Amino acid sequence: MKNIYPVIVGLGYVGLPIFLNLQENFKTIGFDINKERIISLKKREDYNKEFSRNQLKLKKKSMYTNKLKDIKKGNFYIVAVPTPIDKKNTPDLTLLKKSCKFLSKIIKKGDIIFFESTVYPTVTNEICIPILNTSGLQENNDFYVGYSPERINPGDKKKTLKSIPKIVAFKNNIIKQPVKRIYRHISKKIIFSKNIIEAETSKVIENIQRDLNIALINEIYKVCYISNINFRNVLNLAKSKWNFIPFEPGLVGGHCLPVDPYYFSYFAKTKGAKTNIILNGRKTNNSMTNFMVSKISKQINSIDNFYKKKILVMGLTYKKNVADTRNSLAIKILKILQKKFKNIEAYDPLIENKKYKSLKFVRRKMINKFDIYIVLIKHNIFKNIIKKIHRKKIIYPFL
Ligand SMILES: NC(=O)c1ccc[n+]([C@@H]2O[C@H](COP(=O)([O-])OP(=O)(O)OC[C@H]3O[C@@H](n4cnc5c(N)ncnc54)[C@H](O)[C@@H]3O)[C@@H](O)[C@H]2O)c1
Repeated sequence: MKNIYPVIVGLGYVGLPIFLNLQENFKTIGFDINKERIISLKKREDYNKEFSRNQLKLKKKSMYTNKLKDIKKGNFYIVAVPTPIDKKNTPDLTLLKKSCKFLSKIIKKGDIIFFESTVYPTVTNEICIPILNTSGLQENNDFYVGYSPERINPGDKKKTLKSIPKIVAFKNNIIKQPVKRIYRHISKKIIFSKNIIEAETSKVIENIQRDLNIALINEIYKVCYISNINFRNVLNLAKSKWNFIPFEPGLVGGHCLPVDPYYFSYFAKTKGAKTNIILNGRKTNNSMTNFMVSKISKQINSIDNFYKKKILVMGLTYKKNVADTRNSLAIKILKILQKKFKNIEAYDPLIENKKYKSLKFVRRKMINKFDIYIVLIKHNIFKNIIKKIHRKKIIYPFL
């Protein structure tokens, strides 16, 4: 492949940073089916609030588009579309299949297609490649497929895309050079693998391990709370042992941790295997919603004349310093609290408030007018606000 012409399919939390890194060195096309996303990117606005106007400047004649015809000229496609679960926690591969269908209509001899969406083991080989083969071309003969699990951590200014080691898996060494030429601009450290299924599996197990570690500490936290044992003191004591891993209890949300364990469990079930530990971890982490509602309710009820107090819940995204609200337990907690108590409003400047009108968001200038502040997610931008509030008025659910 003499001239590489990369196309990024899906410009979300994963696809956009890849596009921005590649367009520093290649004429790159960013493709997304969401017209609104393309319009705002063309105006140099990122509604995920990960990138500034300056960072979104197009370089090397690169472009954003929602038109399939514009991506025909590409020859190195990187797919980063969502892979969520449905209401029954079953993998929903609709968008991934759709992107393969799109690509099957335009790929040419010699093209390379890399998938970065998180999937369960075997999806690339058994679902994506057969759809791409409907093009009439044959994978590993006419075109080539690879898988590169994505480890980006939105909101993290230290662990940036480039500094995170990147696994790239493909079967045929014939594409090693173009793959290297592309991926060295995405990450400083590339780990090559010849096995796509192993790369797919490694991604889901990384997130399963994290989900389970948090579930374990959440369970311990709950027991300490109902037994009147000071969890923070316990954690500090335990931390003094060299091999104790000090995980923090928390509200697990987002597009990865609450999803990927179900992908692996689904796969295990198709093979007749059970994943009891993994699924119990999910249950424990989800149970934190009701646990937190009851803990916070008790704290509110213990305040004199609580029914007259004005309450502000701060931080509603799924974790601190991101605008992402997917699977946010903080939003679930707020909704339940608003049914239980009359005067509860919300504040989170990272969220597009228009999307959540019913949650009664207040503006910045109103936030000193409340009697009780519940900080569910502690964004860094809250530091100065919190300094000005009397500490007795603040409830931190995880203290
Ligand atoms: N968000 C993360 O932190 C993260 C981290 C690691 C891996 N992942 C994985 O990466 C994948 C993408 O996640 P994300 O967070 O970037 O999602 P996202 O929702 O932020 O962005 C996905 C984008 O793809 C677009 N899209 C959907 N279907 C499309 C199609 N057929 N063709 C073109 N564009 C399409 C959507 O409009 C959206 O803009 C998922 O599989 C996810 O599990 C995400």
